[in-house]
Amino acid sequence: MVLSTGYSKIRTAVFISGTGSNLKSLIRFSKTNKSPISIELIFSNNSKAKGLAFAKLHKIKKKVLNFKNKNSSENKLLSFLKNNNIELICLAGFMKILSKNFIKKFEGKILNIHPSLLPKYKGLNTHKRALNNKEKHSGCTVHFVSSRLDSGKIVLQKKTKISKKETAASLAKKILAQEHKLYPKAILKVFNL
Ligand code: GRF
Repeated sequence: MVLSTGYSKIRTAVFISGTGSNLKSLIRFSKTNKSPISIELIFSNNSKAKGLAFAKLHKIKKKVLNFKNKNSSENKLLSFLKNNNIELICLAGFMKILSKNFIKKFEGKILNIHPSLLPKYKGLNTHKRALNNKEKHSGCTVHFVSSRLDSGKIVLQKKTKISKKETAASLAKKILAQEHKLYPKAILKVFNL
């Protein structure tokens, strides 16, 4: 990934819709010496997203746009990102699908984390579907965002064993703990670190 604004760290926005536990792990990572990113903005489509609380806690700018009118929200967001010199976007539990136009403006500069071993189980309810199919393993994937849902180039994956007594909730918990480690590792990999 090639970046050009000349800041010492890559100015990153994290997009969330809910709890923000991946955001929390990215913030922790961003404060380490080895991190190439600094988190400058937290964006959410949901004003009630719990993860927005991390903005105040860590003195990070936040922005909420409800996406009811996707086109106008995306246009406002694009100018906000531009005004804040954002170079990288990390989707972390962001539940809206970005338009082709938006993705084009940040081509190759949007990452997402998905709770399955892509290309298996794109979309929602991944854990339930993996269990229904009697999978022995599932996991999580960090990938670049392309205009096709959960289909961009894979950066890194982590496999998790599914136990005999697994439920969708227990699997979600196990995989989420792996996600928190995988996202920082994937960022290091993207920047050849
Ligand atoms: C994660 O499992 C992520 O992979 C999925 O939604 C969940 C978000 O969790 N897309 P959190 O908000 O980061 O805690």
